[in-house]
Amino acid sequence: MAKTNSPIQIGTHTLRNRITFAPTVKFDFTDDSGMVTEKLVSHYVERAKGGCGLICVEATAVTPGGRFGKNHMGLWRDEQIEGHKLITEGCHKHDCVVIIQLNHTGYTSNPECGPAIGPSGIQWQGFRGEYTTIEMSPDEIQQMQQAFVDAAVRAKKAGYDGVQFHGCHSYLINQFMSPATNFRTDEYGGSAENRARFCAEMICRVRELCGPDFLISVRTSGYDKDLEDAIAVAEEYVKAGCDYLQVSTGLTPIDDLAPFRGGKVSGVQSLGAYFHEHFAGRVPVSCVGGLTEPEQIHYLLENDYVDTVDVGRAILADPDFAAAVIEDKAYTKCLGCKACQYGPFTAHKCPAEMIRQRA
Ligand SMILES: Cc1cc2nc3c(=O)[nH]c(=O)nc-3n(C[C@H](O)[C@H](O)[C@H](O)COP(=O)(O)O)c2cc1C
Repeated sequence: MAKTNSPIQIGTHTLRNRITFAPTVKFDFTDDSGMVTEKLVSHYVERAKGGCGLICVEATAVTPGGRFGKNHMGLWRDEQIEGHKLITEGCHKHDCVVIIQLNHTGYTSNPECGPAIGPSGIQWQGFRGEYTTIEMSPDEIQQMQQAFVDAAVRAKKAGYDGVQFHGCHSYLINQFMSPATNFRTDEYGGSAENRARFCAEMICRVRELCGPDFLISVRTSGYDKDLEDAIAVAEEYVKAGCDYLQVSTGLTPIDDLAPFRGGKVSGVQSLGAYFHEHFAGRVPVSCVGGLTEPEQIHYLLENDYVDTVDVGRAILADPDFAAAVIEDKAYTKCLGCKACQYGPFTAHKCPAEMIRQRA
């Protein structure tokens, strides 16, 4: 318990505790403009008030072409900055560090928004069926990096404490780092160092433009093509100046991964624990995945298996979850039904949210 509620320094920022709100897209909270809405502002401010040490605002598109769909928040133009200021000001009032996740969907871009581009031209099987992706030219790689860097500069202007590069869950940065999807023969393909280069160069440029106090994080894939290779890529990110690694899944299934130290840590959580063991204090590391019980959160932190825990659905279900864990209070529990993920596309609503609203 003591560890969960203890401060931690990340970059030059101090988090009041070890519970962070994982980036979780609210698919139906904006429209094709990608602008921040009042609904998005209150969504994040409510969760800052609810006790998180850090909020990572959801995957935010760096170009209109790199979106999940037409209702995906963006930071691809200056007009979008003002709305983000309301999120950062609101979260800061509650002593919460707030960063924003920058993303391009790459091969998985919604065809209504843009083409399926990425490191290589390959056959891709996505939830929209099978199709051939388009290999980015060296010029297109540079333009894409510039779009990420420009978005980071806008994030700084909007008052964010930092940015997070979305480097997992099969999106563009993950596609570059994974040997399963990157078959390039230039300096962006081949060795782990080369596959990390797309993101590592962006980290360096953001550091140059945004300064030493701007927190730079990567949410990286912990398993592409295996643990060792994913760690070798993350080493490049740290060398480039990454302050904080959040570790999640990538393009390779983790079925072969042995649970960290015996079984009480789930497969996805184990990725973060293995990274934490490897980096051994050189950079703070978090884990994620199914953290809906205070006992498991305390177990991971008290045993020093990770530096912070990244909580998604439990905080969607109850914005006060972090305070409840720290103060040992009752909370409305996430039932793991995935209505938050698929609800916007179906009639399902989060039952925990409905229970809370009725109370
Ligand atoms: C509704 C929803 C939206 C998500 N959006 C993002 C996102 O924007 N960026 C990201 O890296 N992960 C995203 N994820 C994954 C979560 O951050 C997290 O890794 C995953 O839900 C597992 O953690 P949990 O069991 O605590 O929810 C999303 C998950 C959900 C359920």
